[in-house]
Amino acid sequence: MKVAIGSDHGGYELKEFLKSYFKENNVAFDDYGTHSKESVDYPDFGKKVAHAVLTNAYDFGIVICGTGIGISIAANKVKGIRAALVYNEETARLAKEHNNANIIALGGRTTSNEDAVKIVNAYMKAVFEERHQKRLDKIREIEGASHE
Ligand code: RB5
Repeated sequence: MKVAIGSDHGGYELKEFLKSYFKENNVAFDDYGTHSKESVDYPDFGKKVAHAVLTNAYDFGIVICGTGIGISIAANKVKGIRAALVYNEETARLAKEHNNANIIALGGRTTSNEDAVKIVNAYMKAVFEERHQKRLDKIREIEGASHE
């Protein structure tokens, strides 16, 4: 399992917490920034993680801003990305089972460290249900994307 993770300043502390959790639990990751609490613009980091995920070098991505809203909107502008803003174990599981989300978005100011661990684990355990593929194909048609 390998994860691409990135955040703005609003998600920085939760990103750092998740990195330490991943290190303790032998989950490989690459950190696409930001690297401090200094104010930055979340689209820059949503874009970096989205492009990283599309290289297929990662199993999925995690993007974090204050609420998870802005950075999920930004990541979803990249063709081939299905970024899901998840806020509990059920939405995390369904983001994989139904939507085959390749990025999950978290809110650093709205999700506790403890909940974030539960959310990430629920997503990682879940398996995409093929019966939903036709809906993903329709999303791809909306994008006009020829890849993935
Ligand atoms: C930054 O202050 C904040 O707007 C950002 O982290 C995020 O919550 C936007 O959706």
